[in-house]
Amino acid sequence: MNDTLKTIYERRAVRKFKDKSVQKEIIEQLIDAGRMAPSAINMQPWKFYVLTKKEDIHEFSIETAKAAAKGVLKSGIKNIVKTVSNAIHLSHGIDFHKATDPIFHGAPIVIFITSSKDDEWAALDIGMCSQNMMLAAKSMGLESCPVGLGKFVEQTKLYSKLNIPESEHVNIAIIIGYGDEEPIGKERKKDNVYYI
Ligand SMILES: Cc1cc2nc3c(=O)[nH]c(=O)nc-3n(C[C@H](O)[C@H](O)[C@H](O)COP(=O)(O)O)c2cc1C
Repeated sequence: MNDTLKTIYERRAVRKFKDKSVQKEIIEQLIDAGRMAPSAINMQPWKFYVLTKKEDIHEFSIETAKAAAKGVLKSGIKNIVKTVSNAIHLSHGIDFHKATDPIFHGAPIVIFITSSKDDEWAALDIGMCSQNMMLAAKSMGLESCPVGLGKFVEQTKLYSKLNIPESEHVNIAIIIGYGDEEPIGKERKKDNVYYI
């Protein structure tokens, strides 16, 4: 397997990190890798808001978890079973209520990626940008996890601290750091290719 494929196959969503900071230079390299992603009509819609202070990250995690829980409740009874089980991440065994850092998992770096609210392609672009960053991280000895629940930061009292303009919204948060666990890769579905 070549190095690129090896990185793709070995990247995992990691949710346990060593208490070791990530140098600013490395953060810049990861963001540069994100910027190299393709984007619809080359709009490069991404903006990066980076948290690096441990105390801030913890506080944001707690508040975002509360907002996520409320969001789940608001989503209505019909979807609740599905949504709650997504939100509490039953699939990877995280107890949303007991975990000390249920959203950002003690990572030393959290990057919120935002885009303009009126760019209909931005979510796809940012997916590609995020994956570039996560693969770059893996190739540099770091681990990461995309955190969709990070969107709920918008509904916290801390949101204004991020100085994200009203015209933007949070697409995703990426957590990055030196991993302290080696999750086993989940099997991929293989029955989804149709040659016509
Ligand atoms: C759009 C998106 C949102 C996600 N949101 C979360 C999240 O909020 N919290 C979390 O712990 N993992 C989250 N994940 C990680 C997935 O659970 C993980 O990628 C999936 O279980 C496959 O595992 P793997 O990445 O190790 O292959 C998210 C992944 C994606 C792509």
